[in-house]
Amino acid sequence: MLGVTGGIAAYKSAELVRLWVRQGHTVDVVMTAAAKAFVGPVTFQALSGRPVRDDLWHCGDGGMDHIALSRNVDAVIVAPASADFIGKLTHGLADDLLSTLCLARDCPLLVAPAMNRQMWENPATRRNIAQLRADGIAVLGPASGEQACGEVGEGRMIEPEEIVWRVESQLLPKPLAGRRVLVTSGPTYEPLDPVRAIVNRSSGRMGHAIAAAARDAGAEVTLVSGPVALPPPGDVRTLRVETAAEMLAAVESELDGTDIFVSVAAVADYRSETPSEDKIKRDGGPLQLDLLPNPDILAAVAARPDAPFCVGFAAESRDLLDNAEAKRRRKGLPLLVANDASAIGSAESSLHLLDDSGIHSLPPAEKAISGRWVVEHIARLFTHWERH
Ligand code: C5P
Repeated sequence: MLGVTGGIAAYKSAELVRLWVRQGHTVDVVMTAAAKAFVGPVTFQALSGRPVRDDLWHCGDGGMDHIALSRNVDAVIVAPASADFIGKLTHGLADDLLSTLCLARDCPLLVAPAMNRQMWENPATRRNIAQLRADGIAVLGPASGEQACGEVGEGRMIEPEEIVWRVESQLLPKPLAGRRVLVTSGPTYEPLDPVRAIVNRSSGRMGHAIAAAARDAGAEVTLVSGPVALPPPGDVRTLRVETAAEMLAAVESELDGTDIFVSVAAVADYRSETPSEDKIKRDGGPLQLDLLPNPDILAAVAARPDAPFCVGFAAESRDLLDNAEAKRRRKGLPLLVANDASAIGSAESSLHLLDDSGIHSLPPAEKAISGRWVVEHIARLFTHWERH
């Protein structure tokens, strides 16, 4: 359930509904009277496909909307949460539909404050926020930056994408709490000269999704990423590298204390023996390159006596499962995730999880979702692996 209160950031809540609906969630929107001064209910109704509630006195069939509405929801998220509404929540006031159902609920409540920086800094707001936290209400943000009023400071609502992942990370089970997970993602670039490189095709989407899913499962995550056009996932320590040698060095420097290593990066298999200092000129004839094999980062980590739980990824263009299982055995991995090479660069993937008990095939899904399934599987196997 999304509660929208009166603030200019209310227009961003429309995007929030769209993101949740796209993920397959059902979203009921409840607006305060002030919210309707900023955005019309029709917008939310169209995006959620469900009626928007705004009136304490206009009851549903049972006549008990104010307590019935929040009974069957997984969570109530108030975004934007105005200073006024936060004050109401703090004191348990219930004079409109949203404040009433926030009081009459037994599900988690999360608020994304949005207000002018002076309102945010006011001792009254500070007190209220501290009290909300003490009451077990999650406070998401706010961010700082330019405000609608033209001032600059803390008080902006965090962006819808960030609200989505913060809500998820609050609500999901935490099987990896207290664990350290190291993930590699993206391609590596192996320079041939100052402007050219050998590179594998990889967007980094899968690796970044795995890092985000591990974070949401409660782990402390470090991501070692080759050059990608993606933003680093929030709350994930991200180290940027270019070459396989740099990736290996970054991984080795992070291994101490790592419980789980997930190698998603598409590491280039070869590098130029001697990259040219100057741009190689085109002379019309064939070009001879001397290439050296790169270190296999995953195999090196998995072979260590103190190896963490190691997970590999394999993209194959033919005989996917046979090749992947052979690779899993060769590298000595408890789990290998196989995906069809044709899915590279796309938003969706359909993965097969290969472990000692056999093959588990996942249905096609967006990488954010598949990533979560993979992490759930890792968490199950890890618990078992650790005990033996
Ligand atoms: O042998 P192949 O490259 O197909 O194996 C894929 C798996 O090995 C992936 O998990 C990839 O991240 C990892 N790998 C690596 N270092 C390499 C090559 C692959 O860590 N040089």
